[in-house]
Amino acid sequence: MRTVEWSNGRVRMIDQRRLPWELTYLEFEDYREVAQAITDMVVRGAPAIGATAAFGMALAAQQAPALDMGSVIEFLEVAALIMKKARPTAVNLAWAVDRMMRVAHDDVYSDANEIRRAMLDEAQRIADEDVLINQTMGRHGAALIKDGDTVLHHCNTGALATVDYGTALGVIRAAFEQGKKFHVLLDETRPRMQGGRLSAWELHRLGQPFEVIPDSAAGYYMRRGEVNLVLVGADRIAANGDTVNKIGTYMLSVLAKENKVPFYTVAPTSTIDLNTPSGDQIPIEDRPADEVRTPYGNPLIPEEYPVRNPAFDITPQRYLAGIVTEAGIIHPPFRENLTKAVAMAKAALKV
Ligand code: MRU
Repeated sequence: MRTVEWSNGRVRMIDQRRLPWELTYLEFEDYREVAQAITDMVVRGAPAIGATAAFGMALAAQQAPALDMGSVIEFLEVAALIMKKARPTAVNLAWAVDRMMRVAHDDVYSDANEIRRAMLDEAQRIADEDVLINQTMGRHGAALIKDGDTVLHHCNTGALATVDYGTALGVIRAAFEQGKKFHVLLDETRPRMQGGRLSAWELHRLGQPFEVIPDSAAGYYMRRGEVNLVLVGADRIAANGDTVNKIGTYMLSVLAKENKVPFYTVAPTSTIDLNTPSGDQIPIEDRPADEVRTPYGNPLIPEEYPVRNPAFDITPQRYLAGIVTEAGIIHPPFRENLTKAVAMAKAALKV
């Protein structure tokens, strides 16, 4: 199952707003619709957003009406700006668009169609790499899970949040595939319920035992000694290791430290933003109030009551036991070790 893919000149993706009730796909022929689908969270999760944006840029290249290369590039520059604005926090979006634009600006083409072909090839490469990277992270991270453990997980970081396989949920999947016997507690992850809807859907299909818990129950279970490990994903990791992830992650990390439960982030090196010194400089997306007032159309909070809805929070690096990447598990000092991991991963992929 691929969350997002290229299909006969269109970008095809699972409509994640309808899961777990219905597995449906949407197809887009216009890159602006792809950007809107990211904003509307048809597709979500940092690596999935990155791959979707890459396919969106490949679509823009096909759409560019011009025949001369200069005009195609101009069209793509506009598309890149629109795509990058779709959601502000996950750095994978800008990372993927910038990578696509580097291909567009290469000086090896002799006509516009060659640019179009190269853009599609690069988007495909980004998607394929994502799956391989996740499988590698899964293998590194599975060593953290022992028979008999209970792992607490927040949001959805599985196949749906990536092109396939997943990051933190990919680690859980890898441990399951290695035959380990363990339990998973899934935070429901209000207000959009990525844990209760999407992670539960994935683990149910896999056959991995799990229970969904209210977000507010995590501390209760940790204090009872029922949690051995916390695994989460990331939307952006600053150069010092501060990590931005789904709202509620910070609370979990503090609870984990208080209860001496190791807390790990699992993310590809494309989520590491060495240009941002600390978490405080990372833009945090505010989502519409209706996601809290009327989640999935269910009226819970009246229109006239004021609401705030930040989509992410910042976990200071001191709460992390480590960061699982495709280059291995990174431990403090993060500033130094993240720089090395990014360099290693780039060398391995030659990008
Ligand atoms: O708002 P979302 O659903 O896009 O948020 C997703 C998360 O916060 C994930 O934990 C993160 O993107 C990592 S996904 C592998």
